Amino acid sequence: MAAELMEMEEIRPLATKQVGSIRLEVFEDEQTVGEAAARFLLAQIAEKPHSVFLLPTGRTPLIMYTRLAEKVGSVDLSGVQTFNLDEFYGIPSDHSGNYRSYMQRELFSRVTIPAANIHLLNSAAPDALAECQHYENQLTAAGVDLAVLGIGTNGHIGFNEPGSSFQSRTRPVTIRPETRQANKFLFNDRLDAVPETAITVGIASILQARRILLLATGSGKQQALAGMLYGQVTEVLPASALQTHADVVVFTDKAAAETVL
Ligand code: GLP
Repeated sequence: MAAELMEMEEIRPLATKQVGSIRLEVFEDEQTVGEAAARFLLAQIAEKPHSVFLLPTGRTPLIMYTRLAEKVGSVDLSGVQTFNLDEFYGIPSDHSGNYRSYMQRELFSRVTIPAANIHLLNSAAPDALAECQHYENQLTAAGVDLAVLGIGTNGHIGFNEPGSSFQSRTRPVTIRPETRQANKFLFNDRLDAVPETAITVGIASILQARRILLLATGSGKQQALAGMLYGQVTEVLPASALQTHADVVVFTDKAAAETVL
């Protein structure tokens, strides 16, 4: 494994910047961000084969999952545990638009992780609160080594929309209109098919991860990224909570980083 990593041609960021406890690394484009993120995950597994990951969905991590699946080769993933950050609520658990299906398509069908080590929220749980409590308990007991996050244009992380408490734990939430828009690609571009509610791991739960990697690509993320790095720490911009964590790395492309360097 270590040898496989060393054989790869090194990819260097175009620029790096330390902003408080957050390390920003800017890469050429979204392809390079995905490649760098996949390597970051592999390095984590090399360092600790029993790593616990908190994983994102959305468009941004698609390349990371593809590259990871391509690279994983003979790496033993039998000790790895995964949790997902969030899930829609109120649609069948086998619905093609939910995050369970996304993860199955993008990662779990392409690599071998024991089913018992994969933790996903149930979009059809009969009792949402019980589902949240159970998931939060499992997450806390496992202890996350690396949380990988995307960021919404309004600064959300997971489905923690603006106004979410920094003390929040796994809970049911209402999805904002702009976030439903951003997710309609999973529902054949039909906004009316995107659920209005979801379950998300809370901000306090995310901050318990030992290390956090946030990915942001495209010019649409410039404002949220700038606020997260340089703005006030405020519940109005959920991602600003990351300023209070000791070990955060942000990978962006040039387009997203234009205003933050
Ligand atoms: C979605 C997800 C988030 C994700 C964000 C960004 O709403 N719930 O976890 O990080 O939006 O999505 P994208 O990467 O598609 O911009």
